Amino acid sequence: MPPDRHDHAAWYAPSLPHIWLPYAQMKTAAPPLPVARTEGSRIVLTDGRVLIDGIASWWTACHGYNHPHIREAVARQLEIMPHVMFGGLVHEPALTLARRLAELLPGDLERVFFSESGSVAVEVALKMATQFWANRVVTGRSGFLAFRGGYHGDTAGAMAVTDAMHGSLRRAWPDHHIVDLPETEETARALWHTLERHAGELAAIIVEPLVQGAGGMRFYDAEVLRTLRNAADRYGLLLICDEIFTGFGRTGTMFACEAAGVVPDIVTLSKALTGGTLPLAATVARRRVFEAFWSDDPDHALMHGPTYMANALACAAANASLDLFAREPRLVQAAAIAQALKEGLEPCRGLPGVQDVRVKGAIGVVELDRIDDLDALRRRFVEAGVFIRPFGNVVYLTPALTIAEDELATLTQAVFDVLRTRRA
Ligand SMILES: Cc1ncc(COP(=O)(O)O)c(C=O)c1O
Repeated sequence: MPPDRHDHAAWYAPSLPHIWLPYAQMKTAAPPLPVARTEGSRIVLTDGRVLIDGIASWWTACHGYNHPHIREAVARQLEIMPHVMFGGLVHEPALTLARRLAELLPGDLERVFFSESGSVAVEVALKMATQFWANRVVTGRSGFLAFRGGYHGDTAGAMAVTDAMHGSLRRAWPDHHIVDLPETEETARALWHTLERHAGELAAIIVEPLVQGAGGMRFYDAEVLRTLRNAADRYGLLLICDEIFTGFGRTGTMFACEAAGVVPDIVTLSKALTGGTLPLAATVARRRVFEAFWSDDPDHALMHGPTYMANALACAAANASLDLFAREPRLVQAAAIAQALKEGLEPCRGLPGVQDVRVKGAIGVVELDRIDDLDALRRRFVEAGVFIRPFGNVVYLTPALTIAEDELATLTQAVFDVLRTRRA
């Protein structure tokens, strides 16, 4: 792809004072990079610089950017019908996608509720779980058990079950039980103790399966997820697996819960669902969850309906993305990426300030003792020709599953070079 130039004078400086950027202290944040276009695993800036992308746009672009098969499917759908409301109406892309997701997911996870973002999918899951009990006339079960280091989104309900990220604001939302993942005997005892005392107040356990992403790219064993399934069963709670980060091959299996042989009661999906092209999310329920809403009583209905739910363009993109998973060896590619990440990042282990190097599927992490100046570190990566966005104390790679070998080697080498020469 030849580097190209694109004049951003007309839209960048005059418009920047009107934008509010994500997760940014606007007063001190480094100016964002103007992007002209994307292709494969490359981001082309308006000044012609080309960056190899290490994080696939917050883990969405699993087939790389601008995949022709997804583009064609969206273009075709655009001709026919970009969107129609989903109340009282349905359409082929949404129904086909719902059926395909049900076929792909384990067990009887078979009822799909669409929305437009991961956080909203989590809100829907929390609402489903709470109403599951209310519809069965079980009172008092409106709380959730969630985990230290967990992240489930930025909307109010999702923030209330999130431990990472929201700082003081979290205290403004309802108080749920946030405990350690049961990774040791001591934390397992604490989990059972909490359940013993509070299970009657809880609707569900909510967890990111195998990887806590935004909370620090922490990995944990499949056995821990099995323990949570057992705990939910023992106390009659629902288990919600938030697969928004882990779903669609990221951890090496299509869904992370599969690797543990666990069938959750509710699953949330988003991010790579459309291959990174359009916003779409899904909350998928098992049969018994859906059955609690099946009633002659209108009050037992799930009262939720985002305006753009099941957007036809987004569903067409998601169906095209699933075609690619079916016909191309994405999980084999994820395994090859895991191997390359292990080899490429391992030398970082000996560098000053490096606490841990770890890889799970197509996720590679270098954990540092601390990062004093995130902006400076991010700038260094751009200077090295890569887009990598460290946060907290971690530098991580979650490339497209289609990334070329030499591009991945450029990324791991950049991590090593930048960390070797960093000051703090
Ligand atoms: C596990 C998990 N849940 C929920 C969300 C929220 O998704 P969204 O940003 O689409 O609202 C994220 C986003 O990073 C996530 O990683």
